[in-house]
Amino acid sequence: MTRKKIVAGNWKMHKDYEAGRDLAQDIIEKLQPNDHLIVLGTPFIHLKGVSMIAKEVSNVAVAAQNCHYETQGAFTGEISAAMVYSTGARYVILGHSERRTLFGESDATVFLKVKAALANQLTPIVCVGESLEHRESNSHLDFVAQQLQDSLFGLTAAECNAVVLAYEPVWAIGTGKTASPDQAQEMHAHIRSLVSKAYDPETAAQLSILYGGSVKPANAAEIFAQPDVDGGLIGGASLVADDFIAIVNGLQ
Ligand code: 13P
Repeated sequence: MTRKKIVAGNWKMHKDYEAGRDLAQDIIEKLQPNDHLIVLGTPFIHLKGVSMIAKEVSNVAVAAQNCHYETQGAFTGEISAAMVYSTGARYVILGHSERRTLFGESDATVFLKVKAALANQLTPIVCVGESLEHRESNSHLDFVAQQLQDSLFGLTAAECNAVVLAYEPVWAIGTGKTASPDQAQEMHAHIRSLVSKAYDPETAAQLSILYGGSVKPANAAEIFAQPDVDGGLIGGASLVADDFIAIVNGLQ
């Protein structure tokens, strides 16, 4: 089975209602026919509108950037996985490093959110990645192994088969400092071998692992060409339609 190749945009906290509609429309108009999956990770206010726009294109889907793990209740300001699903979105980015560092999310809460997403037919895009400190002390492989252990490996094999992973080294996010193709490949192969050990070789072989961190039109193709890199999770460059399209076109 060949695994799915994906380019996902993470708009983060950008684009008001009008600007979000315009960006989604612009991207969809400029998208050339291709077999890859394109995911637009928008703020909650855009999920419904962008899902309506994306409906016309079979390989474009919409993602939320977070959801809560409880189904409903007195959780002011939170949004459940079922609520995300009800907008038409079918993906949710979970455990992004900004959620972890700025909003106190732990591997344990990420795991609960992954379970909630799966229980509500959403595909989680689960983010892992080490800080500069871990990279410089050469503990990056162990650090990511622990993140996977605590945020993912409690899933059943069937559940793990429904997940997309994203490796985003924190030191490469929004810094202009991309991991080299070799650094990305090393970590992606490491992740795949850990998944193989935790589950089985087939689960590992079919898992899509995206790279995120300062992916731009100029470096996308080289990173995507690595054998264990199945696409990208794009921040800043996903806010400019031409750049995002150029990155999509870099995926073979
Ligand atoms: P940048 O592409 O802006 O570095 O952001 C990456 C990211 O965090 C995507 O989730």
